[in-house]
Amino acid sequence: MPVSLKGRHFITLKDFTPQEIRYLLDLSHDLKAKKRSGVRGDLLAGKNVCLIFEKSSTRTRTAFEVATFDEGGNVTFLTNSQMGKKETIEDTAKVLGRFYDGIEFRGFKQETVEGLAAHAGVPVWNGLTDLYHPTQILADFLTIEEHVAKPLNKVKFVFAGDARNNMGNSLMIGAAKMGMHFVALAPKELWPSEELVEEMREIAKETGAIIEISDDVNSVKGADAIYTDVWVSMGEEHLFEERINQLKDYQVNMDMVKKTENPDMIFMHCLPAFHDTLTAVGMEVKEKYGLDAMEVTDDVFRSKHSVVFDEAENRMHTIKAVMVASIGNL
Ligand code: CP
Ligand code: NVA
Repeated sequence: MPVSLKGRHFITLKDFTPQEIRYLLDLSHDLKAKKRSGVRGDLLAGKNVCLIFEKSSTRTRTAFEVATFDEGGNVTFLTNSQMGKKETIEDTAKVLGRFYDGIEFRGFKQETVEGLAAHAGVPVWNGLTDLYHPTQILADFLTIEEHVAKPLNKVKFVFAGDARNNMGNSLMIGAAKMGMHFVALAPKELWPSEELVEEMREIAKETGAIIEISDDVNSVKGADAIYTDVWVSMGEEHLFEERINQLKDYQVNMDMVKKTENPDMIFMHCLPAFHDTLTAVGMEVKEKYGLDAMEVTDDVFRSKHSVVFDEAENRMHTIKAVMVASIGNL
């Protein structure tokens, strides 16, 4: 059966089969090659896209904008709407659905993006919530395919850090779907919910994935990729001290890289990353807690293992694939 994602929302990877995720990755590879060869497209010509952002963003906003422009569409960046203040999610969705062909939402509650999807009548794409960040996973898997000489279902992938955050959850879902060996490496307090782990282990029975949850840093042995994310996600800024204490032993540094015993391992991060003290937050953390870096040391971040800027670029190609697949002139 050929895959079609026409008219589909993109809210969490739970809603997609392995074949559908494969289709989005293949389309991303094709759209990347097309852009590299200098071809401008018209797959989104005549389409209007609305980008709603409650939380900050560099990559996600620009990826949606450039991807739309590249294929001939138009965008509105909406940060100061009435939504949630004077107007319900439902009413906002019903209005925007009459103007736009697709709506992206980044913000706090997963229920908000689900509410938009329930009422907009057009595809809604999740640009990150407290619970999930599904577009990031496509970019990460595309990057693995470019850098690791193995199919995804042979890859050992370790997520070190706050394994119950939006990235930890979404990477585990993606890994389960694609048959990967996934390790959530975190102290017990930051393990993903048992409910989600059980759900993913059920999927793993079908796909051949291994879902491992560990607090032992030696579990990185044999890893093809080590991934980390900020220790404190957007909206949790009051938790710095607690998280630093919980996660300092799980920092990705050269000792951890050596423990993989894999000279070809890659280091991944969704970005932004606290790998130095050259940001306002980095400076504050240095002053208060004496740390030069948090989740990853500067030497790992800048090492030959690091593919973080390829991942960032791939946000654009994969987000383009999601939009083209759901609303494009295919
Ligand atoms: N990785 C990611 O989502 O980056 P932004 O927060 O800059 O969009
Ligand atoms: N877990 C991070 C991801 C940023 C892309 C956050 O939610 O802030």
